[in-house]
Amino acid sequence: MACDEFGCAVPETASGSAGAASETLERGSTLKSDSVAGVPVSSKRQIVPGSTIGVLGGGQLGRMLAHAGGRLGYRFVTLDPTPDSPCGQTAEQITAAYDDRGAARELAQRSDVITYEFENVDAGVAEMLERESYVPQGSKLLYTTQHRLREKRAVEAAGAQVAPYAEIESLDGLREAAERLGLPAVLKTATGGYDGKGQWVLRGEEELAPAWEEAARSGTQLVLEKFIVFDKEISVIAARSPSGEVKTFPPAENIHVHNILHLSIVPARISEQVRSEAEKLAVSIAETLGVVGLIAVEMFLTADGKLYVNELAPRPHNSGHYTMEACRTSQFEQHVRAICDLPLGDPSLLTPVVMANILGEHMEPLLAWMGEKDPIAEKLGVEVKVHLYGKAEAKHKRKMGHLNVLAPNVEAALEWISQSNIWRV
Ligand SMILES: Nc1ncnc2c1ncn2[C@@H]1O[C@H](COP(=O)(O)OP(=O)(O)O)[C@@H](O)[C@H]1O
Ligand SMILES: [Mg+2]
Repeated sequence: MACDEFGCAVPETASGSAGAASETLERGSTLKSDSVAGVPVSSKRQIVPGSTIGVLGGGQLGRMLAHAGGRLGYRFVTLDPTPDSPCGQTAEQITAAYDDRGAARELAQRSDVITYEFENVDAGVAEMLERESYVPQGSKLLYTTQHRLREKRAVEAAGAQVAPYAEIESLDGLREAAERLGLPAVLKTATGGYDGKGQWVLRGEEELAPAWEEAARSGTQLVLEKFIVFDKEISVIAARSPSGEVKTFPPAENIHVHNILHLSIVPARISEQVRSEAEKLAVSIAETLGVVGLIAVEMFLTADGKLYVNELAPRPHNSGHYTMEACRTSQFEQHVRAICDLPLGDPSLLTPVVMANILGEHMEPLLAWMGEKDPIAEKLGVEVKVHLYGKAEAKHKRKMGHLNVLAPNVEAALEWISQSNIWRV
């Protein structure tokens, strides 16, 4: 039995009770320790190929995780309420609601290790999964990133800056905070927001009362943030394993349309200094929060070179889809390696790339384009890699897939995107 850097390993079975010591790593086998220098460390075990990875949520992130992990020899089972979910098409599926405790228990029993593809995991379910299976990411990270105020405090504790903010509990409190922080500002629900939902940009005093009324109806805590006039939005995805190994992917420059990610441009058009600063922030956040798996760090970059952390996501991230063909290791493989405590892969960039999202309204032109040869791509020297998620209905604004446009430089990729007919609608 090996001793690891966190202290001497204590063998345990996958269910968490003490088991017989073993020299060899078996399916779901365990290397566990409780603390290093008095600091608690999440239990640590190596999950070997052949083991089953359970994924809470059956969307595209789970699907791409199953593709990458399947290649390494892992099996996947997902829990999702929609039959034939994107992940369910490439894994076994338990079809039930996310907060169905019986279904969560079944997922736990069928899995050697559990991960999730969204952060709004029901607290009771998270606790049950931890008790009945092995959740190396732990529930503390979810608890922190589920709530914007807790998240901001954790980011600040890691030595990073966030936009000036205030907790809002009443209309008077909102007025006071707006006065103090200055307008424009953004009112956000503390929990449950995504793709710009649960947010109100406040530009004038007359907008405070109506926004308060609407936001208060959400029933969650509220936070007001100063509006940051940014030059660029960038993100860095870091991976950390239970053994403490940390690696970051190259920063992506992100362009949103109607609050939904449209493009990720890599390499981001930023200075070396900003690149290194952004990567350092992501490493510091991953270490301070004791992340296991991936953490995506969204940041604003201002014209004078300041970085503000906007949001964290403890999972694969849309702005990391470019890694699938453009990096030596994809974010999905890295996540599997991290939660299974395998050595992390090399995240370095192989080629300039622009990732472009395909929403429901882009499906028709995309399918038309796929059926024909593309002389523009040939002329620009770009190679367009298509990823579709297997969603039945191409609803407006629904994320249906993405393209990774591999190119000699990002300008050529952007030129192909602007000349193609896919994003005209
Ligand atoms: N304080 C802010 N200042 C300027 N722009 C903001 C601010 N907060 C959010 N935004 C804009 O809104 C987008 C969505 O906000 P975000 O907090 O990331 O929520 P989510 O991605 O969960 O919808 C950001 O990517 C950014 O473009
Ligand atoms: Mg965001």
